[in-house]
Amino acid sequence: MEKEKTVVSAALTKAESYIAANKNKVNFRYRPRYHLTAEIGWINDPNGFCWYNGRIHEFFQYNPYDSVWGPIHWGHVVSDDMIKWERLPVALAPDMQYDDRFGCFSGSATVKDGKLFLMYTGVGKEELQQQCLAASDDGVNFVKFSENPVIGEDNVPDGASPKDFRDPFVYVRDGIYYCLVGTKCAGYGNIAMFRSDDLKNWSFVGYAFRQGKGQYVSEGVCECPSRAQFGDREVLFYSPQFLKPQAGKFRNIHSSVYIVGSFNYDTGEFVGGELQETDSGFDFYASQVTVLPDGRTVMTAWMQMWDRNIPSSADGWAGCMILPRELALKGDRLIQTPVREIKLYREGECAAEDIQLESEVRQLPAFYGDSSEISFTICKGTAKKSGIEFYRGGTHCTRLYYDATSDSIVLDRGCSGVDLKGKEQDEIYWVRSVAAPSDDSIDIRILLDNTTAEIFIGNGQSVLSANIYADATDDGVAFFAEGGTAEIKNAKKFTIRV
Ligand code: FRU
Repeated sequence: MEKEKTVVSAALTKAESYIAANKNKVNFRYRPRYHLTAEIGWINDPNGFCWYNGRIHEFFQYNPYDSVWGPIHWGHVVSDDMIKWERLPVALAPDMQYDDRFGCFSGSATVKDGKLFLMYTGVGKEELQQQCLAASDDGVNFVKFSENPVIGEDNVPDGASPKDFRDPFVYVRDGIYYCLVGTKCAGYGNIAMFRSDDLKNWSFVGYAFRQGKGQYVSEGVCECPSRAQFGDREVLFYSPQFLKPQAGKFRNIHSSVYIVGSFNYDTGEFVGGELQETDSGFDFYASQVTVLPDGRTVMTAWMQMWDRNIPSSADGWAGCMILPRELALKGDRLIQTPVREIKLYREGECAAEDIQLESEVRQLPAFYGDSSEISFTICKGTAKKSGIEFYRGGTHCTRLYYDATSDSIVLDRGCSGVDLKGKEQDEIYWVRSVAAPSDDSIDIRILLDNTTAEIFIGNGQSVLSANIYADATDDGVAFFAEGGTAEIKNAKKFTIRV
Protein backbone atom coordinates (compact mmCIF):
# COMPACT_ATOMS: atom_id res chain seq x y z
CA MET A 1 0.00 0.00 0.00
CA GLU A 2 2.87 2.29 0.91
CA LYS A 3 4.14 2.31 -2.68
CA GLU A 4 0.89 3.27 -4.36
CA LYS A 5 0.51 6.69 -5.96
CA THR A 6 -2.42 8.94 -5.18
CA VAL A 7 -4.51 8.91 -8.33
CA VAL A 8 -7.84 10.64 -7.91
CA SER A 9 -10.46 8.38 -9.44
CA ALA A 10 -12.86 9.60 -12.12
CA ALA A 11 -15.74 8.88 -9.72
CA LEU A 12 -14.28 11.25 -7.11
CA THR A 13 -13.64 14.01 -9.65
CA LYS A 14 -17.17 13.62 -10.97
CA ALA A 15 -18.64 13.92 -7.47
CA GLU A 16 -16.59 17.05 -6.72
CA SER A 17 -17.58 18.73 -9.99
CA TYR A 18 -21.22 17.93 -9.39
CA ILE A 19 -21.13 19.37 -5.86
CA ALA A 20 -19.35 22.55 -7.00
CA ALA A 21 -21.78 23.09 -9.88
CA ASN A 22 -24.96 22.45 -7.91
CA LYS A 23 -24.49 23.31 -4.24
CA ASN A 24 -25.81 26.84 -4.68
CA LYS A 25 -29.13 25.49 -5.91
CA VAL A 26 -29.97 24.06 -2.51
CA ASN A 27 -32.63 25.78 -0.41
CA PHE A 28 -31.37 26.39 3.14
CA ARG A 29 -34.64 27.17 4.92
CA TYR A 30 -34.61 23.98 7.02
CA ARG A 31 -30.89 23.75 7.60
CA PRO A 32 -29.62 23.60 11.19
CA ARG A 33 -26.83 26.08 11.95
CA TYR A 34 -24.59 24.27 14.42
CA HIS A 35 -25.21 20.69 13.40
CA LEU A 36 -23.38 18.91 10.63
CA THR A 37 -25.57 18.55 7.54
CA ALA A 38 -25.18 17.67 3.88
CA GLU A 39 -24.04 20.57 1.73
CA ILE A 40 -26.09 19.04 -1.06
CA GLY A 41 -27.52 15.57 -1.51
CA TRP A 42 -28.11 12.83 1.01
CA ILE A 43 -26.19 11.80 4.13
CA ASN A 44 -26.73 8.95 6.55
CA ASP A 45 -24.48 7.21 9.11
CA PRO A 46 -21.38 8.93 10.46
CA ASN A 47 -18.23 6.97 9.61
CA GLY A 48 -14.54 7.12 10.53
CA PHE A 49 -15.08 9.47 13.48
CA CYS A 50 -11.54 10.01 14.81
CA TRP A 51 -8.74 12.29 15.84
CA TYR A 52 -5.90 12.52 13.30
CA ASN A 53 -3.00 14.97 13.10
CA GLY A 54 -4.50 17.48 15.50
CA ARG A 55 -8.05 17.66 14.16
CA ILE A 56 -11.30 15.74 14.48
CA HIS A 57 -12.36 13.97 11.30
CA GLU A 58 -15.82 12.80 10.51
CA PHE A 59 -16.86 10.96 7.37
CA PHE A 60 -20.39 10.06 6.45
CA GLN A 61 -22.48 8.00 4.07
CA TYR A 62 -23.04 10.36 1.19
CA ASN A 63 -24.93 10.47 -2.09
CA PRO A 64 -23.96 13.86 -3.54
CA TYR A 65 -26.22 13.43 -6.57
CA ASP A 66 -29.64 13.30 -4.99
CA SER A 67 -31.41 13.97 -1.71
CA VAL A 68 -32.38 10.32 -1.37
CA TRP A 69 -30.16 7.32 -0.62
CA GLY A 70 -28.15 6.29 -3.68
CA PRO A 71 -24.63 5.37 -4.81
CA ILE A 72 -22.82 5.71 -1.53
CA HIS A 73 -19.63 7.75 -1.22
CA TRP A 74 -17.85 8.83 1.95
CA GLY A 75 -18.20 12.58 2.53
CA HIS A 76 -15.53 14.13 4.75
CA VAL A 77 -15.33 17.05 7.18
CA VAL A 78 -12.84 18.19 9.82
CA SER A 79 -13.21 20.27 12.92
CA ASP A 80 -11.33 21.66 15.90
CA ASP A 81 -14.33 21.69 18.19
CA MET A 82 -17.05 19.41 16.72
CA ILE A 83 -19.32 22.46 16.26
CA LYS A 84 -17.88 24.12 13.16
CA TRP A 85 -16.98 21.74 10.36
CA GLU A 86 -14.81 22.41 7.35
CA ARG A 87 -15.67 20.42 4.24
CA LEU A 88 -12.95 18.36 2.59
CA PRO A 89 -13.12 16.55 -0.76
CA VAL A 90 -15.19 13.39 -0.90
CA ALA A 91 -12.94 10.66 0.47
CA LEU A 92 -14.26 7.48 -1.14
CA ALA A 93 -16.39 6.87 -4.21
CA PRO A 94 -17.71 3.61 -5.65
CA ASP A 95 -15.15 2.91 -8.35
CA MET A 96 -13.94 -0.68 -7.89
CA GLN A 97 -15.51 -4.00 -8.75
CA TYR A 98 -15.85 -4.73 -5.03
CA ASP A 99 -17.72 -1.50 -4.21
CA ASP A 100 -19.41 -0.26 -7.38
CA ARG A 101 -22.78 -2.00 -7.00
CA PHE A 102 -24.19 0.10 -4.12
CA GLY A 103 -21.08 1.87 -2.95
CA CYS A 104 -18.84 2.33 0.07
CA PHE A 105 -20.98 1.43 3.06
CA SER A 106 -20.32 2.41 6.66
CA GLY A 107 -17.10 1.85 8.53
CA SER A 108 -14.54 3.39 10.83
CA ALA A 109 -11.04 4.84 11.02
CA THR A 110 -7.85 4.02 12.83
CA VAL A 111 -4.37 5.52 12.83
CA LYS A 112 -1.35 3.29 12.20
CA ASP A 113 2.26 4.37 11.55
CA GLY A 114 1.15 7.97 11.05
CA LYS A 115 -1.38 7.07 8.36
CA LEU A 116 -5.13 7.36 8.58
CA PHE A 117 -6.79 4.06 7.64
CA LEU A 118 -10.45 3.77 6.72
CA MET A 119 -12.14 0.39 6.88
CA TYR A 120 -15.45 0.23 5.07
CA THR A 121 -17.84 -2.23 3.47
CA GLY A 122 -17.61 -2.42 -0.30
CA VAL A 123 -20.87 -3.54 -1.87
CA GLY A 124 -19.84 -4.77 -5.28
CA LYS A 125 -20.60 -7.56 -7.68
CA GLU A 126 -23.43 -9.86 -6.68
CA GLU A 127 -24.17 -7.40 -3.86
CA LEU A 128 -21.50 -9.04 -1.72
CA GLN A 129 -20.61 -7.02 1.36
CA GLN A 130 -16.86 -7.18 1.90
CA GLN A 131 -14.59 -5.24 4.20
CA CYS A 132 -12.05 -2.99 2.49
CA LEU A 133 -9.23 -0.63 3.45
CA ALA A 134 -8.13 2.79 2.23
CA ALA A 135 -5.27 4.87 3.61
CA SER A 136 -4.06 8.45 3.62
CA ASP A 137 -0.82 10.22 4.53
CA ASP A 138 -2.37 13.67 4.64
CA GLY A 139 -5.87 13.01 5.98
CA VAL A 140 -7.38 14.31 2.74
CA ASN A 141 -6.57 11.97 -0.13
CA PHE A 142 -7.26 8.26 0.27
CA VAL A 143 -5.94 5.32 -1.70
CA LYS A 144 -7.79 2.04 -1.70
CA PHE A 145 -5.68 -1.00 -0.82
CA SER A 146 -4.63 -3.00 -3.88
CA GLU A 147 -5.49 -6.28 -2.14
CA ASN A 148 -9.03 -5.36 -1.14
CA PRO A 149 -11.18 -6.86 0.23
CA VAL A 150 -9.34 -7.62 3.45
CA ILE A 151 -12.30 -9.53 4.90
CA GLY A 152 -13.83 -11.00 1.77
CA GLU A 153 -16.50 -13.49 0.89
CA ASP A 154 -14.19 -16.36 1.83
CA ASN A 155 -13.73 -15.02 5.36
CA VAL A 156 -17.44 -14.75 6.18
CA PRO A 157 -17.88 -16.99 9.23
CA ASP A 158 -20.26 -19.96 9.26
CA GLY A 159 -23.86 -18.98 9.57
CA ALA A 160 -23.48 -15.35 8.42
CA SER A 161 -24.78 -14.08 5.10
CA PRO A 162 -22.18 -12.45 2.78
CA LYS A 163 -24.94 -10.05 1.73
CA ASP A 164 -25.55 -8.92 5.30
CA PHE A 165 -22.04 -8.39 6.52
CA ARG A 166 -21.13 -4.79 7.04
CA ASP A 167 -20.07 -1.68 8.98
CA PRO A 168 -16.61 -2.67 10.33
CA PHE A 169 -15.64 -0.91 13.55
CA VAL A 170 -11.89 -1.12 14.19
CA TYR A 171 -10.13 -0.50 17.47
CA VAL A 172 -6.79 -1.34 19.05
CA ARG A 173 -6.40 -3.23 22.30
CA ASP A 174 -3.05 -4.33 23.69
CA GLY A 175 -1.41 -3.72 20.32
CA ILE A 176 -3.88 -5.91 18.42
CA TYR A 177 -6.51 -4.62 16.00
CA TYR A 178 -10.07 -5.81 16.49
CA CYS A 179 -12.87 -5.35 14.01
CA LEU A 180 -16.58 -5.73 14.79
CA VAL A 181 -18.79 -6.47 11.79
CA GLY A 182 -22.58 -6.23 11.87
CA THR A 183 -24.38 -9.23 10.43
CA LYS A 184 -27.07 -11.85 10.79
CA CYS A 185 -26.31 -15.38 11.87
CA ALA A 186 -28.85 -18.19 11.63
CA GLY A 187 -31.64 -15.68 11.10
CA TYR A 188 -30.80 -13.29 13.96
CA GLY A 189 -28.75 -10.15 14.19
CA ASN A 190 -25.23 -10.63 15.50
CA ILE A 191 -21.78 -9.04 15.58
CA ALA A 192 -18.72 -10.89 14.32
CA MET A 193 -15.34 -10.11 15.89
CA PHE A 194 -12.10 -10.37 13.89
CA ARG A 195 -8.51 -9.74 14.92
CA SER A 196 -5.39 -8.66 13.07
CA ASP A 197 -1.80 -7.60 13.68
CA ASP A 198 -1.52 -5.43 10.60
CA LEU A 199 -5.07 -4.37 9.52
CA LYS A 200 -4.65 -6.44 6.34
CA ASN A 201 -4.83 -10.05 7.47
CA TRP A 202 -7.83 -10.80 9.64
CA SER A 203 -8.98 -13.92 11.46
CA PHE A 204 -12.40 -14.60 12.90
CA VAL A 205 -12.59 -14.68 16.71
CA GLY A 206 -16.30 -15.39 17.26
CA TYR A 207 -19.79 -13.99 17.51
CA ALA A 208 -20.81 -11.50 20.22
CA PHE A 209 -24.15 -13.10 21.00
CA ARG A 210 -24.76 -16.74 21.89
CA GLN A 211 -27.93 -18.70 22.24
CA GLY A 212 -29.77 -17.74 25.36
CA LYS A 213 -28.89 -14.09 24.84
CA GLY A 214 -32.15 -13.52 23.00
CA GLN A 215 -32.76 -10.10 24.54
CA TYR A 216 -29.87 -8.57 22.59
CA VAL A 217 -30.91 -9.40 19.07
CA SER A 218 -33.67 -9.11 16.54
CA GLU A 219 -34.40 -10.53 13.15
CA GLY A 220 -32.56 -7.74 11.37
CA VAL A 221 -28.88 -6.96 11.09
CA CYS A 222 -27.08 -5.51 14.12
CA GLU A 223 -25.89 -2.55 12.04
CA CYS A 224 -23.08 -0.15 12.83
CA PRO A 225 -21.39 -1.71 15.87
CA SER A 226 -19.16 0.55 17.94
CA ARG A 227 -17.44 0.15 21.25
CA ALA A 228 -15.96 2.17 24.11
CA GLN A 229 -13.91 1.40 27.21
CA PHE A 230 -14.65 2.95 30.62
CA GLY A 231 -12.17 1.69 33.21
CA ASP A 232 -12.41 -2.09 33.15
CA ARG A 233 -15.83 -2.09 31.53
CA GLU A 234 -16.76 -1.94 27.88
CA VAL A 235 -19.86 -0.58 26.21
CA LEU A 236 -21.03 -2.20 23.01
CA PHE A 237 -23.20 0.00 20.78
CA TYR A 238 -25.16 -1.11 17.74
CA SER A 239 -28.25 -0.35 15.71
CA PRO A 240 -30.50 -3.40 15.41
CA GLN A 241 -33.13 -3.45 12.70
CA PHE A 242 -36.65 -4.59 13.57
CA LEU A 243 -36.18 -4.88 17.33
CA LYS A 244 -39.61 -5.42 18.88
CA PRO A 245 -40.92 -2.57 21.07
CA GLN A 246 -40.81 -3.38 24.79
CA ALA A 247 -42.58 -1.36 27.48
CA GLY A 248 -42.29 1.97 25.68
CA LYS A 249 -38.73 1.32 24.49
CA PHE A 250 -37.41 0.57 20.98
CA ARG A 251 -40.35 2.16 19.23
CA ASN A 252 -38.46 2.96 16.05
CA ILE A 253 -38.16 0.16 13.49
CA HIS A 254 -34.45 0.93 13.57
CA SER A 255 -33.24 1.25 17.16
CA SER A 256 -29.93 2.30 18.66
CA VAL A 257 -28.85 0.37 21.73
CA TYR A 258 -25.98 -0.28 24.11
CA ILE A 259 -24.94 -2.96 26.56
CA VAL A 260 -22.50 -2.47 29.43
CA GLY A 261 -20.23 -5.48 30.00
CA SER A 262 -17.10 -6.91 28.46
CA PHE A 263 -15.85 -8.92 25.52
CA ASN A 264 -14.22 -12.26 25.93
CA TYR A 265 -11.31 -11.74 23.54
CA ASP A 266 -10.78 -15.51 23.13
CA THR A 267 -14.32 -16.23 21.97
CA GLY A 268 -15.64 -12.85 20.79
CA GLU A 269 -18.61 -13.15 23.14
CA PHE A 270 -19.95 -10.01 24.78
CA VAL A 271 -21.15 -10.68 28.31
CA GLY A 272 -23.19 -7.84 29.68
CA GLY A 273 -26.26 -6.46 31.38
CA GLU A 274 -29.57 -5.16 30.16
CA LEU A 275 -30.14 -3.97 26.59
CA GLN A 276 -30.61 -0.19 26.82
CA GLU A 277 -31.74 2.44 24.37
CA THR A 278 -28.99 4.93 23.47
CA ASP A 279 -31.47 7.65 22.52
CA SER A 280 -35.21 7.23 22.95
CA GLY A 281 -36.27 9.93 20.50
CA PHE A 282 -37.50 9.67 16.94
CA ASP A 283 -34.40 10.46 14.96
CA PHE A 284 -31.16 8.87 16.07
CA TYR A 285 -29.26 6.03 14.41
CA ALA A 286 -25.90 4.45 13.72
CA SER A 287 -24.00 6.00 16.62
CA GLN A 288 -20.22 5.85 16.51
CA VAL A 289 -17.74 6.62 19.29
CA THR A 290 -14.12 7.68 19.42
CA VAL A 291 -11.62 8.76 22.06
CA LEU A 292 -9.97 12.19 21.92
CA PRO A 293 -6.39 12.86 23.10
CA ASP A 294 -7.78 14.67 26.17
CA GLY A 295 -9.36 11.36 27.26
CA ARG A 296 -12.95 12.15 26.38
CA THR A 297 -15.04 9.44 24.78
CA VAL A 298 -17.34 11.17 22.32
CA MET A 299 -20.22 9.92 20.24
CA THR A 300 -21.85 11.08 17.05
CA ALA A 301 -24.88 9.65 15.25
CA TRP A 302 -27.20 10.28 12.33
CA MET A 303 -30.11 12.45 13.49
CA GLN A 304 -32.65 11.07 11.05
CA MET A 305 -34.51 7.82 10.64
CA TRP A 306 -34.93 5.36 7.80
CA ASP A 307 -38.24 5.21 5.98
CA ARG A 308 -39.68 8.54 7.14
CA ASN A 309 -40.52 11.51 4.95
CA ILE A 310 -37.75 14.14 5.07
CA PRO A 311 -39.14 17.57 4.15
CA SER A 312 -35.73 19.00 3.22
CA SER A 313 -35.38 16.41 0.45
CA ALA A 314 -37.50 18.70 -1.71
CA ASP A 315 -34.88 21.42 -1.11
CA GLY A 316 -31.97 19.38 -2.41
CA TRP A 317 -30.47 18.02 0.79
CA ALA A 318 -31.30 15.46 3.49
CA GLY A 319 -29.63 14.35 6.68
CA CYS A 320 -28.04 15.77 9.78
CA MET A 321 -25.80 14.56 12.61
CA ILE A 322 -26.39 15.01 16.33
CA LEU A 323 -24.26 17.50 18.19
CA PRO A 324 -21.48 15.14 19.38
CA ARG A 325 -21.87 14.01 22.99
CA GLU A 326 -19.39 13.27 25.73
CA LEU A 327 -20.00 9.89 27.30
CA ALA A 328 -19.51 8.60 30.83
CA LEU A 329 -20.76 5.58 32.76
CA LYS A 330 -22.68 5.91 36.00
CA GLY A 331 -23.46 2.48 37.34
CA ASP A 332 -24.83 0.62 34.36
CA ARG A 333 -26.16 3.74 32.71
CA LEU A 334 -24.57 5.80 29.97
CA ILE A 335 -24.49 9.53 30.71
CA GLN A 336 -24.56 11.74 27.63
CA THR A 337 -23.69 15.44 27.61
CA PRO A 338 -23.37 17.78 24.62
CA VAL A 339 -19.67 18.41 23.96
CA ARG A 340 -18.50 21.17 26.26
CA GLU A 341 -17.31 23.26 23.28
CA ILE A 342 -20.92 24.31 22.66
CA LYS A 343 -20.64 26.63 25.67
CA LEU A 344 -18.20 28.77 23.69
CA TYR A 345 -20.99 29.61 21.26
CA ARG A 346 -23.48 30.76 23.88
CA GLU A 347 -24.69 34.35 23.70
CA GLY A 348 -27.30 36.49 25.43
CA GLU A 349 -28.04 34.63 28.64
CA CYS A 350 -31.65 34.95 29.86
CA ALA A 351 -32.70 33.68 33.27
CA ALA A 352 -36.26 33.51 34.61
CA GLU A 353 -37.50 33.80 38.17
CA ASP A 354 -38.90 30.55 39.52
CA ILE A 355 -42.28 29.97 37.87
CA GLN A 356 -45.27 28.67 39.84
CA LEU A 357 -47.80 27.15 37.48
CA GLU A 358 -51.36 26.18 38.11
CA SER A 359 -53.30 24.68 35.18
CA GLU A 360 -51.97 27.28 32.75
CA VAL A 361 -49.64 27.98 29.85
CA ARG A 362 -47.12 30.74 30.65
CA GLN A 363 -45.29 32.26 27.70
CA LEU A 364 -41.73 33.42 28.19
CA PRO A 365 -41.15 35.99 25.44
CA ALA A 366 -37.46 36.38 26.37
CA PHE A 367 -36.85 32.68 25.76
CA TYR A 368 -37.81 32.72 22.08
CA GLY A 369 -35.40 31.40 19.49
CA ASP A 370 -34.71 28.54 17.14
CA SER A 371 -30.97 28.32 17.62
CA SER A 372 -30.77 28.07 21.35
CA GLU A 373 -30.10 26.14 24.51
CA ILE A 374 -32.75 26.02 27.22
CA SER A 375 -32.30 24.44 30.63
CA PHE A 376 -34.64 24.19 33.62
CA THR A 377 -35.82 21.98 36.45
CA ILE A 378 -39.36 20.64 36.64
CA CYS A 379 -40.44 20.36 40.28
CA LYS A 380 -43.32 17.93 40.36
CA GLY A 381 -46.57 19.23 41.83
CA THR A 382 -50.11 17.97 41.55
CA ALA A 383 -50.28 18.52 37.77
CA LYS A 384 -50.98 15.58 35.49
CA LYS A 385 -48.61 17.08 32.94
CA SER A 386 -45.96 19.75 33.42
CA GLY A 387 -43.30 20.94 31.04
CA ILE A 388 -42.36 23.15 28.14
CA GLU A 389 -43.58 24.06 24.67
CA PHE A 390 -40.99 25.14 22.12
CA TYR A 391 -40.90 25.87 18.38
CA ARG A 392 -44.18 27.53 19.34
CA GLY A 393 -46.27 29.93 17.26
CA GLY A 394 -49.38 30.02 15.10
CA THR A 395 -50.87 26.56 15.29
CA HIS A 396 -47.63 24.74 16.09
CA CYS A 397 -45.74 23.71 19.18
CA THR A 398 -43.62 20.80 20.32
CA ARG A 399 -44.30 19.60 23.87
CA LEU A 400 -41.95 18.00 26.36
CA TYR A 401 -43.45 17.17 29.74
CA TYR A 402 -43.43 15.09 32.84
CA ASP A 403 -46.49 12.85 32.71
CA ALA A 404 -47.54 11.96 36.25
CA THR A 405 -49.89 9.17 35.17
CA SER A 406 -47.16 7.16 33.47
CA ASP A 407 -44.28 8.64 35.52
CA SER A 408 -42.42 9.34 32.30
CA ILE A 409 -41.03 12.20 30.25
CA VAL A 410 -42.93 12.56 27.01
CA LEU A 411 -41.94 14.27 23.75
CA ASP A 412 -44.94 15.04 21.55
CA ARG A 413 -44.45 16.32 18.02
CA GLY A 414 -48.05 15.78 16.96
CA CYS A 415 -48.56 19.54 16.43
CA SER A 416 -44.96 20.41 15.63
CA GLY A 417 -45.35 21.25 11.95
CA VAL A 418 -44.84 18.98 8.95
CA ASP A 419 -46.09 15.51 9.89
CA LEU A 420 -43.22 13.01 9.92
CA LYS A 421 -44.36 9.44 9.50
CA GLY A 422 -42.50 6.22 8.89
CA LYS A 423 -43.36 2.57 8.70
CA GLU A 424 -43.87 2.13 12.43
CA GLN A 425 -47.25 0.54 13.07
CA ASP A 426 -47.76 2.80 16.00
CA GLU A 427 -51.01 4.56 16.59
CA ILE A 428 -49.28 7.36 18.45
CA TYR A 429 -46.36 7.65 16.08
CA TRP A 430 -45.82 11.29 17.07
CA VAL A 431 -44.96 10.49 20.72
CA ARG A 432 -41.79 9.12 22.35
CA SER A 433 -41.09 8.77 26.07
CA VAL A 434 -38.62 7.63 28.70
CA ALA A 435 -39.06 6.65 32.34
CA ALA A 436 -38.80 9.77 34.52
CA PRO A 437 -35.83 10.03 36.90
CA SER A 438 -37.03 9.04 40.38
CA ASP A 439 -36.32 12.46 41.99
CA ASP A 440 -39.00 15.04 42.75
CA SER A 441 -37.27 17.50 40.48
CA ILE A 442 -36.04 16.71 36.99
CA ASP A 443 -33.27 18.58 35.17
CA ILE A 444 -33.84 19.16 31.48
CA ARG A 445 -31.49 20.64 28.90
CA ILE A 446 -32.69 21.25 25.35
CA LEU A 447 -30.71 22.18 22.25
CA LEU A 448 -32.74 23.66 19.41
CA ASP A 449 -31.35 24.23 15.93
CA ASN A 450 -33.94 25.33 13.38
CA THR A 451 -35.25 21.83 12.61
CA THR A 452 -33.73 19.76 15.41
CA ALA A 453 -34.23 19.21 19.13
CA GLU A 454 -32.00 17.20 21.46
CA ILE A 455 -33.37 16.81 24.95
CA PHE A 456 -31.13 15.69 27.82
CA ILE A 457 -33.07 14.42 30.81
CA GLY A 458 -31.79 13.96 34.36
CA ASN A 459 -28.32 15.30 33.53
CA GLY A 460 -28.00 13.10 30.48
CA GLN A 461 -29.21 9.75 31.79
CA SER A 462 -31.79 9.70 28.97
CA VAL A 463 -31.92 11.59 25.69
CA LEU A 464 -34.70 12.24 23.19
CA SER A 465 -33.68 13.51 19.75
CA ALA A 466 -36.04 14.64 17.05
CA ASN A 467 -36.35 16.51 13.79
CA ILE A 468 -39.03 19.19 13.94
CA TYR A 469 -40.22 21.00 10.84
CA ALA A 470 -42.15 24.02 12.09
CA ASP A 471 -42.67 27.35 10.31
CA ALA A 472 -39.82 29.85 10.38
CA THR A 473 -41.80 32.08 12.73
CA ASP A 474 -42.50 29.28 15.25
CA ASP A 475 -39.79 30.18 17.74
CA GLY A 476 -41.72 30.87 20.96
CA VAL A 477 -41.34 29.14 24.31
CA ALA A 478 -43.87 28.56 27.11
CA PHE A 479 -44.01 26.49 30.27
CA PHE A 480 -47.23 24.76 31.28
CA ALA A 481 -49.01 22.68 33.88
CA GLU A 482 -52.20 20.75 33.17
CA GLY A 483 -54.64 19.58 35.84
CA GLY A 484 -52.80 21.00 38.86
CA THR A 485 -49.60 22.68 39.99
CA ALA A 486 -45.92 22.48 39.13
CA GLU A 487 -42.89 24.69 39.53
CA ILE A 488 -40.20 25.50 36.99
CA LYS A 489 -36.89 26.46 38.56
CA ASN A 490 -33.49 27.60 37.28
CA ALA A 491 -34.85 28.33 33.79
CA LYS A 492 -32.15 29.70 31.50
CA LYS A 493 -31.75 30.27 27.84
CA PHE A 494 -28.81 31.07 25.58
CA THR A 495 -28.72 31.81 21.91
CA ILE A 496 -26.24 29.60 20.11
CA ARG A 497 -24.41 31.52 17.43
CA VAL A 498 -21.74 29.97 15.24
C1 FRU B 1 -27.22 1.90 8.48
C2 FRU B 1 -26.83 1.35 7.12
C3 FRU B 1 -25.56 0.54 7.24
C4 FRU B 1 -24.99 0.60 5.87
C5 FRU B 1 -25.36 2.00 5.45
C6 FRU B 1 -25.62 2.16 3.98
O1 FRU B 1 -27.92 3.07 8.46
O2 FRU B 1 -27.88 0.58 6.60
O3 FRU B 1 -25.75 -0.78 7.73
O4 FRU B 1 -23.61 0.42 5.86
O5 FRU B 1 -26.51 2.36 6.18
O6 FRU B 1 -25.70 3.51 3.64
